[in-house]
Amino acid sequence: MRIDRFISNATDLSRNDVKRLVKNGEVAIDGTPVNDPGQRLGEGQDVTIAGAPIATPQPRYYMLNKPAGVVCANRDRDHTTAVELIYEHRAEELQIAGRLDIDTTGLVLLTDDGQWNHRLTSPRNRCKKLYHVSLAEPLDDPQSAVERCAKGIFLHGEQRRCQPAALTVLDPCTVELAIVEGKYHQVKRMFAALGNAVVALHRHSVGEIVLDADLAPGEYRPLSAAEVAAI
Ligand code: URA
Repeated sequence: MRIDRFISNATDLSRNDVKRLVKNGEVAIDGTPVNDPGQRLGEGQDVTIAGAPIATPQPRYYMLNKPAGVVCANRDRDHTTAVELIYEHRAEELQIAGRLDIDTTGLVLLTDDGQWNHRLTSPRNRCKKLYHVSLAEPLDDPQSAVERCAKGIFLHGEQRRCQPAALTVLDPCTVELAIVEGKYHQVKRMFAALGNAVVALHRHSVGEIVLDADLAPGEYRPLSAAEVAAI
């Protein structure tokens, strides 16, 4: 990686700030002053600014309590995005690990660790997502709905059944649904296949990571080391 990029990733300094520091002879690699901001940094080399060491930036992981009306995207012309709610340096480099619809609320994970994102979202890993669902109509036959979800529901336009899903009926219009895939509008389409409609959808957990009850809608926090390791 170029030294100017490394430093701007690791600090609050812009590439122009770094250029100025390089010009002033304040940036060094392994003790040797750098004279080109485009100089490449090798694996394991130490970087200092005015003698102070610069630590290698670590991957970042956040949980956001997504409010309704926010889109899971990095940029959008018309709506606030999930990434815009993360007030951190270089937030625009974060990826959303498993998107929610604009009207869905709850747990959204964001990271700049591509491998971790892949582990979480790869269909092969069957990471469990738990949703709290409010339905338009009371379930007329809750037992049959539970059984159909467990068997795997056919979604409109799909050739294969969904993976088995666990449906827990809390009351006739409120259920919890655990799914291990992330098909487009999956929960809404599953209830459409059951002859019902979703009026509110909230993601409670992804794998072992549970939405922090202390986060108000729109708030976020970094994941703990244990949460990161759980994926
Ligand atoms: N399923 C949906 O239908 N919407 C979401 O936002 C998430 C899962």
